[in-house]
Amino acid sequence: MLLLSPRGALLSVYCPQIFLILSSGSYLALSSVVALGANIICNKIPGLAPRQRAICQSRPDAIIVIGEGAQMGINECQYQFRFGRWNCSALGEKTVFGQELRVGSREAAFTYAITAAGVAHAVTAACSQGNLSNCGCDREKQGYYNQAEGWKWGGCSADVRYGIDFSRRFVDAREIKKNARRLMNLHNNEARKVLEERMKLECKCHGVSGSCTTKTCWTTLPKFREVGHMLKEKYNAAVQVEVVRASRLRQPTFLRIKQLRSYQKPMETDLVYIEKSPNYCEEDAATGSVGTQGRLCNRTSPGADGCDTMCCGRGYNTHQYTKVWQCNCKFHWCCFVKCNTCSERTEVFTCK
Ligand SMILES: *[C@@H]1O[C@H](CO)[C@@H](O)[C@H](O)[C@H]1NC(C)=O
Ligand SMILES: *[C@@H]1O[C@H](CO)[C@@H](O)[C@H](O)[C@H]1NC(C)=O
Ligand SMILES: *[C@@H]1O[C@H](CO)[C@@H](O)[C@H](O)[C@H]1NC(C)=O
Repeated sequence: MLLLSPRGALLSVYCPQIFLILSSGSYLALSSVVALGANIICNKIPGLAPRQRAICQSRPDAIIVIGEGAQMGINECQYQFRFGRWNCSALGEKTVFGQELRVGSREAAFTYAITAAGVAHAVTAACSQGNLSNCGCDREKQGYYNQAEGWKWGGCSADVRYGIDFSRRFVDAREIKKNARRLMNLHNNEARKVLEERMKLECKCHGVSGSCTTKTCWTTLPKFREVGHMLKEKYNAAVQVEVVRASRLRQPTFLRIKQLRSYQKPMETDLVYIEKSPNYCEEDAATGSVGTQGRLCNRTSPGADGCDTMCCGRGYNTHQYTKVWQCNCKFHWCCFVKCNTCSERTEVFTCK
């Protein structure tokens, strides 16, 4: 078992099984956290809120899965925004969930939604595989006969409600400041419910030579890529909201759609934001933008990855290089393969 401190000091013995990647670039490699003592590890993880630290200490096996889920969310965010000026990186406070965007923009909305969904997904999957104590398969979907459809619940149905509840308890616990961002973040975290909507039914036939005299079915999680696409659509349709301060103390109480004479609350399934996005052209610590200098762009694309858009009119540098690879490979009897060497001059463009 190995525990790397942020500076890479070796704290324990090596056993590389699970890597919990932390946003600071340090990582913990853990086989059994329990053996090392939850206290040590939970105190070493940067950016945990007090209640999260308490959950970490009482459920040390879950913290690894949480870290993997959050990382899966960040990876998916980078995939979904690979062609955008904003590519899911931020200058900001480092937490287990990556770097926090300071502006309450629709990009911030997406990062909250995708990491909350990532944690729910990872926890549900770990439960189904028996990797976590306190959870397993969905007990309500075991052994019962589904009269209407003519099949029986069997196998292991993923307990997605447990995963969503767990994500709610852990991820939402970081919202400790009583401000408008808290309401926005909590609202966007609930987008993890798309997992529940997208559960799949898988079935298996039993009987002589696949005759399907009896059939058993179970539910499985959607692929996380599908979740990423759905949340990206919600990002495109995100709704601007404003905070309503009710009560004597004028504390932020709920969100309503920001429109003249609108008193509507956003729908639970919407992603919401309270501030307009910066253009992400230049590095700016105030907004958390890393800028697009040095980003690859496509000279001929009319889209967001085109050099004009990506580089915000600053122009681009051209890098020429020769690509070399093996080509026209032929199999000769017997037994070798002969290839030619092909080469091509190519160019890539990066923003100034
Ligand atoms: C469950 O644990 C096994 C063995 O450690 C691992 O290979 C697998 O990826 C884990 N599954 C999940 C969903 O965490
Ligand atoms: C995103 O853009 C920044 C700034 O140009 C760059 O440093 C970073 O490597 C990019 N990240 C990804 C995942 O492409
Ligand atoms: C650049 O964009 C054009 C037009 O969208 C596309 O056909 C081409 O494959 C892209 N080039 C690269 C290197 O992605």
